[in-house]
Amino acid sequence: MSTLVVYYSLSCGNTERVAEMVADALDADIEAIETVEPYPGGYQEVVDQGKREVERGYKPAIEALEFNPADYGRIVIGTPTWWYTMAPAVATYLSEYDWRGKTVVPFQTHGGWPGETLDDIVDACDGARIEHGMSVQFDSTGGDRMITPLADVERWIDSLK
Ligand SMILES: Cc1cc2nc3c(=O)[nH]c(=O)nc-3n(C[C@H](O)[C@H](O)[C@H](O)COP(=O)(O)O)c2cc1C
Repeated sequence: MSTLVVYYSLSCGNTERVAEMVADALDADIEAIETVEPYPGGYQEVVDQGKREVERGYKPAIEALEFNPADYGRIVIGTPTWWYTMAPAVATYLSEYDWRGKTVVPFQTHGGWPGETLDDIVDACDGARIEHGMSVQFDSTGGDRMITPLADVERWIDSLK
């Protein structure tokens, strides 16, 4: 099955790192979601702005993407956890396509409080078949140290082959 990996990653590349592992292992196309307006300020400003956006269900405009999920059977979607759910940019992405008949593999990175992120992705992909959701924990200070054992991540990726 043709696979596309799409991810959003802002703070320190944690979600990008996992997305690239998946894409390398599956020899899949991969691309990053980016907001039209960059988030200004440092980590704490992003945390605060992210909270306001999540609370009001804000969907920021995102840059046009090269790959269309309509052209793939399976789409792996990666997001950092923002306030117990997906990052707003990922909510925008999911709202822009028709997921009926697609297989979606959601994954999140987080710092210890995964929340409802994977369930929220399921809800946003109406009509998709959801498979092999994965949570990858990084350190709780917003850093880039992976807490989930690498072997667990590799086992999940093997299950997608
Ligand atoms: C706006 C914002 C909100 C966050 N909310 C959570 C959260 O609810 N739970 C959690 O475990 N980590 C939370 N984090 C930490 C990130 O999920 C974690 O550092 C993630 O791996 C960052 O991925 P990235 O480097 O790909 O952006 C938050 C980070 C930001 C910037």
